[in-house]
Amino acid sequence: MATEYDLLIVNGLVVTDTETGEYDIAVKNEKVETVARRGTLSKAIAKRTIDAEGGYVTPGGVDAHVHLDEPPLFGKGSTADNYETGSRSAIAGGTTTIITFAPQRKSEDSLLSILQATHTKANQVCYSDYSFHLLVSNPSPLALSEFKTLREEGISSLKIYMTYEALQLHDGQILDVLLEARKQKITTMVHAENGQVIDWMTAQLENRKFFAPKYHATSHPPVAEVEATYRAISLSEFIDTPILIVHVSTPAAAAHIKAAQDRGLPVYAETCPQYLFLTRKDLDKPGFEGAKCVCSPPPREGEQDHEGIWEGLANGTFTILSSDHCPFTYDDDINGKKTVLSDKYPVGHFKYIPNGCPGLETRLGLTLSADLLPIQKFVEVTSANPAKLYGLWPGKGAFIAGQSDADINIWYPPGQMEEFTLKNELLHHNVDYTPYEGKTMKQWPRYTILRGEVVWDREHGGVLGKKGYGKFIKREASSLAGSRDPGDWDILA
Ligand SMILES: *[C@@H]1O[C@H](CO)[C@@H](O)[C@H](O)[C@H]1NC(C)=O
Repeated sequence: MATEYDLLIVNGLVVTDTETGEYDIAVKNEKVETVARRGTLSKAIAKRTIDAEGGYVTPGGVDAHVHLDEPPLFGKGSTADNYETGSRSAIAGGTTTIITFAPQRKSEDSLLSILQATHTKANQVCYSDYSFHLLVSNPSPLALSEFKTLREEGISSLKIYMTYEALQLHDGQILDVLLEARKQKITTMVHAENGQVIDWMTAQLENRKFFAPKYHATSHPPVAEVEATYRAISLSEFIDTPILIVHVSTPAAAAHIKAAQDRGLPVYAETCPQYLFLTRKDLDKPGFEGAKCVCSPPPREGEQDHEGIWEGLANGTFTILSSDHCPFTYDDDINGKKTVLSDKYPVGHFKYIPNGCPGLETRLGLTLSADLLPIQKFVEVTSANPAKLYGLWPGKGAFIAGQSDADINIWYPPGQMEEFTLKNELLHHNVDYTPYEGKTMKQWPRYTILRGEVVWDREHGGVLGKKGYGKFIKREASSLAGSRDPGDWDILA
Protein backbone atom coordinates (compact mmCIF):
# COMPACT_ATOMS: atom_id res chain seq x y z
CA MET A 1 0.00 0.00 0.00
CA ALA A 2 1.25 3.47 -0.88
CA THR A 3 2.39 5.73 1.95
CA GLU A 4 -0.08 8.36 2.92
CA TYR A 5 1.69 11.64 3.54
CA ASP A 6 0.49 14.39 5.83
CA LEU A 7 1.46 17.11 3.38
CA LEU A 8 2.83 17.46 -0.12
CA ILE A 9 4.43 20.61 -1.46
CA VAL A 10 4.59 20.48 -5.23
CA ASN A 11 5.91 22.69 -8.04
CA GLY A 12 8.33 24.57 -5.82
CA LEU A 13 11.84 25.72 -6.55
CA VAL A 14 13.46 24.11 -3.53
CA VAL A 15 16.47 25.95 -2.13
CA THR A 16 18.88 24.92 0.60
CA ASP A 17 22.30 26.38 1.40
CA THR A 18 23.91 23.99 -1.09
CA GLU A 19 21.36 23.33 -3.81
CA THR A 20 18.53 24.77 -5.87
CA GLY A 21 16.20 22.53 -7.85
CA GLU A 22 12.72 21.61 -8.97
CA TYR A 23 11.61 19.22 -6.26
CA ASP A 24 8.46 18.17 -4.48
CA ILE A 25 8.56 17.62 -0.74
CA ALA A 26 6.54 15.01 1.14
CA VAL A 27 5.97 15.39 4.87
CA LYS A 28 5.02 12.75 7.38
CA ASN A 29 5.03 12.72 11.18
CA GLU A 30 6.40 16.27 11.35
CA LYS A 31 9.46 15.35 9.25
CA VAL A 32 10.60 15.75 5.68
CA GLU A 33 9.96 12.19 4.48
CA THR A 34 10.97 12.49 0.82
CA VAL A 35 12.43 15.10 -1.52
CA ALA A 36 11.73 13.98 -5.08
CA ARG A 37 12.12 15.38 -8.56
CA ARG A 38 9.20 17.61 -9.54
CA GLY A 39 6.22 15.61 -10.71
CA THR A 40 7.36 12.24 -9.39
CA LEU A 41 5.03 12.48 -6.39
CA SER A 42 2.01 13.37 -8.50
CA LYS A 43 0.29 10.07 -7.69
CA ALA A 44 1.13 10.15 -3.99
CA ILE A 45 -1.70 10.27 -1.50
CA ALA A 46 -1.63 13.11 0.98
CA LYS A 47 -4.01 14.69 3.45
CA ARG A 48 -3.16 18.06 1.94
CA THR A 49 -1.25 19.31 -1.09
CA ILE A 50 0.08 22.84 -1.49
CA ASP A 51 1.01 24.07 -4.97
CA ALA A 52 4.02 26.39 -4.66
CA GLU A 53 3.39 27.57 -8.25
CA GLY A 54 7.09 27.89 -8.95
CA GLY A 55 7.93 29.95 -5.85
CA TYR A 56 10.97 29.34 -3.68
CA VAL A 57 10.58 26.67 -1.01
CA THR A 58 13.16 27.19 1.73
CA PRO A 59 13.86 25.76 5.19
CA GLY A 60 12.11 27.75 7.92
CA GLY A 61 14.06 30.69 9.30
CA VAL A 62 16.25 30.26 12.37
CA ASP A 63 16.72 33.50 14.29
CA ALA A 64 19.53 33.03 16.78
CA HIS A 65 19.42 36.44 18.43
CA VAL A 66 16.12 37.28 20.10
CA HIS A 67 15.36 39.00 23.40
CA LEU A 68 11.99 38.13 24.97
CA ASP A 69 10.55 38.66 28.43
CA GLU A 70 13.82 39.67 30.05
CA PRO A 71 14.01 41.31 33.45
CA PRO A 72 15.35 44.89 33.31
CA LEU A 73 19.10 44.23 33.20
CA PHE A 74 20.27 47.80 33.27
CA GLY A 75 18.36 51.04 33.49
CA LYS A 76 14.68 51.30 32.80
CA GLY A 77 12.42 49.67 30.28
CA SER A 78 11.24 46.11 29.97
CA THR A 79 10.89 43.87 26.96
CA ALA A 80 7.61 44.52 25.16
CA ASP A 81 7.33 40.99 23.78
CA ASN A 82 6.93 37.88 25.85
CA TYR A 83 7.35 34.35 24.53
CA GLU A 84 3.80 34.28 23.22
CA THR A 85 3.80 37.54 21.25
CA GLY A 86 7.42 37.22 20.16
CA SER A 87 7.11 33.69 18.82
CA ARG A 88 3.81 34.61 17.12
CA SER A 89 5.54 37.38 15.22
CA ALA A 90 8.34 34.95 14.38
CA ILE A 91 6.09 32.55 12.47
CA ALA A 92 4.24 35.41 10.76
CA GLY A 93 7.60 36.40 9.28
CA GLY A 94 8.76 32.90 8.35
CA THR A 95 10.96 32.15 11.35
CA THR A 96 10.18 28.73 12.76
CA THR A 97 12.93 28.51 15.38
CA ILE A 98 14.16 31.23 17.71
CA ILE A 99 17.03 31.20 20.18
CA THR A 100 16.44 33.69 22.97
CA PHE A 101 18.47 34.64 26.03
CA ALA A 102 18.33 33.35 29.56
CA PRO A 103 20.04 36.24 31.32
CA GLN A 104 22.05 35.92 34.51
CA ARG A 105 22.46 39.05 36.60
CA LYS A 106 25.69 39.84 38.42
CA SER A 107 23.91 39.32 41.74
CA GLU A 108 23.09 35.73 40.73
CA ASP A 109 25.48 32.84 41.06
CA SER A 110 23.89 29.89 39.33
CA LEU A 111 23.06 29.48 35.66
CA LEU A 112 20.88 26.40 36.04
CA SER A 113 18.30 28.27 38.08
CA ILE A 114 18.18 30.94 35.34
CA LEU A 115 17.64 28.23 32.77
CA GLN A 116 14.75 26.80 34.76
CA ALA A 117 13.17 30.23 35.22
CA THR A 118 13.38 30.90 31.48
CA HIS A 119 11.84 27.52 30.68
CA THR A 120 8.90 28.52 32.85
CA LYS A 121 8.38 31.67 30.81
CA ALA A 122 8.43 29.86 27.47
CA ASN A 123 6.71 26.61 28.40
CA GLN A 124 3.33 26.04 26.70
CA VAL A 125 3.05 29.51 25.15
CA CYS A 126 5.28 29.46 22.06
CA TYR A 127 4.11 29.47 18.45
CA SER A 128 7.60 28.68 17.13
CA ASP A 129 10.21 26.17 18.27
CA TYR A 130 12.81 27.64 20.58
CA SER A 131 15.99 27.28 22.58
CA PHE A 132 18.04 29.56 24.83
CA HIS A 133 21.56 30.95 25.03
CA LEU A 134 22.73 31.47 28.60
CA LEU A 135 23.85 35.04 29.16
CA VAL A 136 26.73 34.92 31.63
CA SER A 137 27.39 38.13 33.56
CA ASN A 138 28.86 36.49 36.67
CA PRO A 139 31.22 33.61 35.82
CA SER A 140 31.34 32.48 39.45
CA PRO A 141 32.96 29.14 40.29
CA LEU A 142 29.44 27.71 40.56
CA ALA A 143 28.40 29.11 37.17
CA LEU A 144 31.53 27.74 35.47
CA SER A 145 30.99 24.33 37.06
CA GLU A 146 27.50 24.23 35.56
CA PHE A 147 28.57 24.43 31.90
CA LYS A 148 28.69 20.63 31.74
CA THR A 149 25.12 20.31 32.96
CA LEU A 150 24.01 23.00 30.54
CA ARG A 151 25.22 20.79 27.69
CA GLU A 152 23.24 17.86 29.11
CA GLU A 153 20.22 20.16 29.19
CA GLY A 154 20.65 20.90 25.48
CA ILE A 155 22.32 24.31 25.74
CA SER A 156 25.48 24.66 23.63
CA SER A 157 26.03 28.43 23.54
CA LEU A 158 26.65 31.31 25.92
CA LYS A 159 26.77 35.05 25.51
CA ILE A 160 29.07 37.50 27.25
CA TYR A 161 29.39 41.29 27.16
CA MET A 162 32.47 43.48 26.92
CA THR A 163 30.36 46.56 27.72
CA TYR A 164 27.45 47.70 29.96
CA GLU A 165 28.50 47.99 33.59
CA ALA A 166 25.76 45.62 34.74
CA LEU A 167 26.91 42.82 32.41
CA GLN A 168 30.50 43.54 31.39
CA LEU A 169 33.23 40.96 31.99
CA HIS A 170 36.86 41.95 32.30
CA ASP A 171 39.41 40.11 30.20
CA GLY A 172 40.32 37.61 32.93
CA GLN A 173 36.68 36.65 33.33
CA ILE A 174 36.36 36.29 29.56
CA LEU A 175 39.28 33.85 29.63
CA ASP A 176 37.58 31.89 32.44
CA VAL A 177 34.45 31.55 30.31
CA LEU A 178 36.33 30.67 27.12
CA LEU A 179 38.40 27.96 28.80
CA GLU A 180 35.41 26.22 30.32
CA ALA A 181 33.44 26.68 27.08
CA ARG A 182 36.25 25.00 25.20
CA LYS A 183 36.14 21.98 27.51
CA GLN A 184 32.41 21.57 27.06
CA LYS A 185 32.28 22.38 23.31
CA ILE A 186 30.19 25.46 23.88
CA THR A 187 30.18 28.37 21.42
CA THR A 188 30.69 31.73 23.12
CA MET A 189 28.87 34.74 21.67
CA VAL A 190 30.53 38.06 22.36
CA HIS A 191 29.03 41.54 22.43
CA ALA A 192 32.21 43.29 21.36
CA GLU A 193 32.25 46.96 22.30
CA ASN A 194 34.80 48.58 24.58
CA GLY A 195 32.71 49.78 27.54
CA GLN A 196 35.29 52.28 28.76
CA VAL A 197 35.55 54.01 25.39
CA ILE A 198 31.75 54.36 25.36
CA ASP A 199 31.73 55.74 28.93
CA TRP A 200 34.43 58.23 28.04
CA MET A 201 32.57 59.45 24.94
CA THR A 202 29.36 59.65 26.95
CA ALA A 203 31.04 61.92 29.51
CA GLN A 204 32.34 64.19 26.72
CA LEU A 205 28.82 64.58 25.36
CA GLU A 206 27.26 65.12 28.78
CA ASN A 207 29.79 67.85 29.57
CA ARG A 208 28.57 69.69 26.51
CA LYS A 209 24.93 69.06 27.41
CA PHE A 210 24.24 66.96 24.32
CA PHE A 211 21.40 64.61 25.27
CA ALA A 212 19.21 64.01 22.18
CA PRO A 213 18.81 60.43 20.87
CA LYS A 214 21.20 61.03 17.96
CA TYR A 215 24.11 61.30 20.41
CA HIS A 216 23.69 57.63 21.18
CA ALA A 217 25.46 56.98 17.86
CA THR A 218 28.25 59.42 18.72
CA SER A 219 28.75 57.78 22.11
CA HIS A 220 29.39 54.39 20.46
CA PRO A 221 32.18 55.22 18.00
CA PRO A 222 33.28 52.50 15.56
CA VAL A 223 36.65 52.28 17.34
CA ALA A 224 34.91 50.87 20.44
CA GLU A 225 33.61 48.00 18.31
CA VAL A 226 36.74 47.52 16.24
CA GLU A 227 39.05 47.34 19.27
CA ALA A 228 36.81 44.98 21.23
CA THR A 229 36.33 42.73 18.20
CA TYR A 230 40.06 42.40 17.78
CA ARG A 231 40.50 41.78 21.51
CA ALA A 232 37.80 39.09 21.51
CA ILE A 233 39.48 37.39 18.56
CA SER A 234 42.84 37.53 20.36
CA LEU A 235 41.44 36.04 23.56
CA SER A 236 39.67 33.26 21.68
CA GLU A 237 42.80 32.48 19.68
CA PHE A 238 44.78 32.27 22.93
CA ILE A 239 42.38 29.67 24.35
CA ASP A 240 41.76 28.18 20.87
CA THR A 241 38.01 28.01 21.10
CA PRO A 242 35.20 29.16 18.76
CA ILE A 243 33.47 32.49 19.25
CA LEU A 244 30.75 34.32 17.42
CA ILE A 245 30.90 38.11 17.38
CA VAL A 246 27.28 39.25 17.60
CA HIS A 247 25.68 42.15 15.71
CA VAL A 248 28.70 43.45 13.80
CA SER A 249 27.94 46.91 12.43
CA THR A 250 31.25 48.19 11.09
CA PRO A 251 33.18 46.99 8.02
CA ALA A 252 36.42 47.69 9.90
CA ALA A 253 35.42 45.16 12.58
CA ALA A 254 34.41 42.73 9.82
CA ALA A 255 37.88 43.09 8.30
CA HIS A 256 39.46 41.85 11.57
CA ILE A 257 37.05 38.92 11.53
CA LYS A 258 37.88 38.10 7.91
CA ALA A 259 41.61 38.23 8.66
CA ALA A 260 41.12 35.82 11.59
CA GLN A 261 39.07 33.46 9.40
CA ASP A 262 41.74 33.59 6.70
CA ARG A 263 44.21 32.40 9.33
CA GLY A 264 41.94 29.41 9.96
CA LEU A 265 40.57 30.51 13.33
CA PRO A 266 37.06 29.41 14.33
CA VAL A 267 35.85 33.01 14.52
CA TYR A 268 32.24 33.43 13.43
CA ALA A 269 30.23 36.59 12.98
CA GLU A 270 26.68 37.83 12.93
CA THR A 271 25.12 40.93 11.46
CA CYS A 272 21.55 42.22 11.57
CA PRO A 273 19.07 44.11 9.35
CA GLN A 274 19.62 47.35 11.29
CA TYR A 275 23.16 47.46 9.86
CA LEU A 276 21.89 46.88 6.34
CA PHE A 277 18.91 49.22 6.28
CA LEU A 278 19.33 51.95 8.95
CA THR A 279 21.87 54.73 9.42
CA ARG A 280 22.61 57.24 12.15
CA LYS A 281 20.24 59.62 10.36
CA ASP A 282 17.42 57.42 11.64
CA LEU A 283 18.42 58.51 15.15
CA ASP A 284 18.35 62.16 14.12
CA LYS A 285 14.63 62.85 13.90
CA PRO A 286 12.57 65.70 15.34
CA GLY A 287 11.97 65.52 19.08
CA PHE A 288 12.40 62.07 20.57
CA GLU A 289 11.46 60.05 17.45
CA GLY A 290 15.08 58.94 16.89
CA ALA A 291 14.86 56.83 20.07
CA LYS A 292 12.98 54.21 18.03
CA CYS A 293 16.24 53.24 16.32
CA VAL A 294 18.52 53.37 19.37
CA CYS A 295 20.34 50.05 19.63
CA SER A 296 23.92 49.00 20.27
CA PRO A 297 26.08 49.08 18.31
CA PRO A 298 24.20 51.93 16.61
CA PRO A 299 23.33 52.06 12.93
CA ARG A 300 26.39 53.57 11.23
CA GLU A 301 27.10 56.42 8.78
CA GLY A 302 25.55 55.35 5.51
CA GLU A 303 25.89 53.66 2.13
CA GLN A 304 29.53 52.65 2.49
CA ASP A 305 28.93 50.86 5.76
CA HIS A 306 25.88 49.10 4.32
CA GLU A 307 27.84 48.02 1.27
CA GLY A 308 30.64 46.64 3.44
CA ILE A 309 28.18 44.62 5.50
CA TRP A 310 26.37 43.25 2.42
CA GLU A 311 29.75 42.34 0.98
CA GLY A 312 30.67 40.52 4.19
CA LEU A 313 27.41 38.56 3.97
CA ALA A 314 28.02 37.65 0.34
CA ASN A 315 31.66 36.65 0.84
CA GLY A 316 31.17 34.51 3.94
CA THR A 317 32.69 36.82 6.58
CA PHE A 318 29.30 36.82 8.27
CA THR A 319 28.16 33.38 9.24
CA ILE A 320 24.63 34.38 10.19
CA LEU A 321 22.06 37.16 9.83
CA SER A 322 19.91 37.51 12.96
CA SER A 323 17.38 40.11 14.05
CA ASP A 324 18.64 41.07 17.52
CA HIS A 325 14.95 41.60 18.21
CA CYS A 326 15.00 43.62 21.42
CA PRO A 327 11.57 45.22 21.65
CA PHE A 328 10.56 48.27 23.66
CA THR A 329 7.32 50.16 23.22
CA TYR A 330 7.95 53.71 22.00
CA ASP A 331 4.98 55.58 23.43
CA ASP A 332 5.27 54.29 26.98
CA ASP A 333 6.84 56.19 29.86
CA ILE A 334 6.68 53.31 32.33
CA ASN A 335 8.33 50.45 30.45
CA GLY A 336 9.22 51.82 27.02
CA LYS A 337 11.48 54.24 25.22
CA LYS A 338 9.80 57.27 26.80
CA THR A 339 10.88 56.36 30.33
CA VAL A 340 13.79 58.78 29.77
CA LEU A 341 11.66 61.87 29.13
CA SER A 342 11.47 64.28 32.05
CA ASP A 343 11.31 68.02 32.73
CA LYS A 344 15.07 68.00 33.09
CA TYR A 345 15.56 66.03 29.85
CA PRO A 346 12.73 67.02 27.47
CA VAL A 347 14.34 65.14 24.55
CA GLY A 348 15.50 62.39 26.88
CA HIS A 349 19.06 61.41 27.61
CA PHE A 350 20.66 59.13 25.01
CA LYS A 351 22.50 57.15 27.68
CA TYR A 352 19.33 55.93 29.37
CA ILE A 353 17.14 55.14 26.34
CA PRO A 354 16.20 51.46 26.47
CA ASN A 355 18.51 49.90 23.89
CA GLY A 356 17.03 47.81 21.12
CA CYS A 357 14.78 47.59 18.09
CA PRO A 358 12.14 45.06 17.07
CA GLY A 359 12.86 43.03 13.93
CA LEU A 360 12.01 39.35 14.39
CA GLU A 361 9.10 39.39 11.95
CA THR A 362 10.69 41.58 9.26
CA ARG A 363 14.15 39.94 9.06
CA LEU A 364 13.46 37.52 6.20
CA GLY A 365 11.05 39.65 4.18
CA LEU A 366 13.29 42.72 4.25
CA THR A 367 16.40 40.78 3.30
CA LEU A 368 14.77 38.92 0.43
CA SER A 369 13.05 42.08 -0.80
CA ALA A 370 16.44 43.84 -0.98
CA ASP A 371 17.46 41.16 -3.49
CA LEU A 372 21.19 41.63 -2.89
CA LEU A 373 22.12 38.07 -1.91
CA PRO A 374 22.04 34.92 -4.02
CA ILE A 375 19.12 32.82 -2.79
CA GLN A 376 21.29 29.98 -1.47
CA LYS A 377 23.36 32.49 0.49
CA PHE A 378 20.13 33.89 1.92
CA VAL A 379 19.15 30.41 3.13
CA GLU A 380 22.65 29.84 4.48
CA VAL A 381 22.83 32.96 6.65
CA THR A 382 19.22 33.02 7.84
CA SER A 383 18.60 29.32 8.41
CA ALA A 384 21.26 26.69 7.66
CA ASN A 385 24.24 28.35 9.33
CA PRO A 386 22.51 29.40 12.54
CA ALA A 387 21.28 25.80 12.75
CA LYS A 388 24.80 24.44 12.23
CA LEU A 389 26.56 26.90 14.52
CA TYR A 390 24.17 26.31 17.39
CA GLY A 391 23.77 22.57 17.08
CA LEU A 392 20.30 22.35 15.52
CA TRP A 393 21.31 21.00 12.11
CA PRO A 394 20.06 18.92 10.27
CA GLY A 395 16.86 18.87 12.33
CA LYS A 396 16.54 22.55 11.45
CA GLY A 397 17.85 24.55 8.49
CA ALA A 398 17.83 21.64 6.02
CA PHE A 399 15.64 19.34 3.92
CA ILE A 400 17.27 16.00 4.58
CA ALA A 401 14.81 13.15 4.16
CA GLY A 402 14.10 11.37 7.42
CA GLN A 403 16.18 13.81 9.48
CA SER A 404 14.92 17.35 9.03
CA ASP A 405 11.84 18.71 10.69
CA ALA A 406 9.29 19.83 8.11
CA ASP A 407 9.89 23.53 8.78
CA ILE A 408 9.25 25.17 5.43
CA ASN A 409 8.69 28.59 3.93
CA ILE A 410 6.90 28.91 0.63
CA TRP A 411 7.52 32.25 -1.07
CA TYR A 412 5.66 34.04 -3.84
CA PRO A 413 6.54 33.09 -7.40
CA PRO A 414 8.40 35.93 -9.17
CA GLY A 415 6.09 38.86 -9.80
CA GLN A 416 3.11 37.27 -8.11
CA MET A 417 3.04 39.16 -4.83
CA GLU A 418 1.62 42.63 -4.93
CA GLU A 419 4.33 44.89 -3.50
CA PHE A 420 3.27 46.51 -0.27
CA THR A 421 4.42 49.22 2.06
CA LEU A 422 5.46 47.93 5.45
CA LYS A 423 3.32 49.29 8.26
CA ASN A 424 3.53 48.39 11.91
CA GLU A 425 -0.18 47.52 11.99
CA LEU A 426 0.58 44.56 9.68
CA LEU A 427 2.94 43.01 12.23
CA HIS A 428 2.20 40.64 15.09
CA HIS A 429 4.68 41.74 17.73
CA ASN A 430 3.60 43.67 20.80
CA VAL A 431 5.44 46.84 19.84
CA ASP A 432 3.92 50.12 18.66
CA TYR A 433 6.41 50.74 15.85
CA THR A 434 8.78 49.16 13.38
CA PRO A 435 12.05 50.86 12.40
CA TYR A 436 11.24 49.81 8.83
CA GLU A 437 7.91 51.65 8.51
CA GLY A 438 7.37 52.66 4.88
CA LYS A 439 9.81 50.19 3.31
CA THR A 440 8.62 48.56 0.10
CA MET A 441 8.24 44.82 0.48
CA LYS A 442 8.62 42.63 -2.60
CA GLN A 443 8.54 39.30 -0.81
CA TRP A 444 6.93 37.84 2.28
CA PRO A 445 6.36 34.21 3.23
CA ARG A 446 3.17 33.00 1.62
CA TYR A 447 3.05 29.92 3.83
CA THR A 448 5.12 28.96 6.84
CA ILE A 449 5.09 25.37 8.01
CA LEU A 450 6.40 24.20 11.37
CA ARG A 451 6.86 20.45 11.82
CA GLY A 452 4.30 19.76 9.13
CA GLU A 453 1.64 22.20 10.36
CA VAL A 454 0.75 25.27 8.32
CA VAL A 455 1.23 27.96 10.96
CA TRP A 456 1.10 31.01 8.65
CA ASP A 457 -1.03 31.36 5.54
CA ARG A 458 -0.78 34.94 4.37
CA GLU A 459 -3.85 34.85 2.14
CA HIS A 460 -6.09 32.62 4.21
CA GLY A 461 -6.19 33.61 7.84
CA GLY A 462 -2.65 34.79 8.61
CA VAL A 463 -1.44 33.17 11.81
CA LEU A 464 -2.94 29.67 11.97
CA GLY A 465 -0.45 28.21 14.42
CA LYS A 466 -1.54 27.37 17.92
CA LYS A 467 -0.08 28.82 21.08
CA GLY A 468 1.93 26.09 22.75
CA TYR A 469 2.66 24.09 19.57
CA GLY A 470 6.23 25.42 19.59
CA LYS A 471 8.58 23.25 21.59
CA PHE A 472 11.97 23.46 23.24
CA ILE A 473 14.66 21.93 21.07
CA LYS A 474 17.68 20.40 22.78
CA ARG A 475 20.83 21.42 20.98
CA GLU A 476 24.08 19.57 20.27
CA ALA A 477 27.56 21.07 19.87
CA SER A 478 28.19 23.25 16.82
CA SER A 479 28.81 21.34 13.61
CA LEU A 480 30.99 24.14 12.22
CA ALA A 481 34.74 23.95 12.80
CA GLY A 482 35.76 24.11 16.48
CA SER A 483 39.05 24.31 18.39
CA ARG A 484 41.98 23.66 16.07
CA ASP A 485 43.97 21.65 18.58
CA PRO A 486 41.84 18.80 19.92
CA GLY A 487 43.93 18.40 23.12
CA ASP A 488 43.43 20.21 26.41
CA TRP A 489 44.53 23.81 26.66
CA ASP A 490 47.32 24.16 29.20
CA ILE A 491 49.58 26.97 30.35
CA LEU A 492 52.64 24.84 29.64
CA ALA A 493 51.60 23.83 26.16
C1 LIG B 1 34.73 40.32 2.36
O1 LIG B 1 34.02 41.13 3.29
C2 LIG B 1 34.80 41.71 4.31
C3 LIG B 1 33.85 42.44 5.25
O2 LIG B 1 33.16 43.46 4.64
C4 LIG B 1 35.88 42.59 3.73
O3 LIG B 1 36.71 43.07 4.77
C5 LIG B 1 36.68 41.83 2.70
O4 LIG B 1 37.60 42.71 2.07
C6 LIG B 1 35.74 41.22 1.66
N1 LIG B 1 36.43 40.57 0.54
C7 LIG B 1 37.33 39.60 0.61
C8 LIG B 1 37.84 39.05 -0.68
O5 LIG B 1 37.74 39.17 1.67
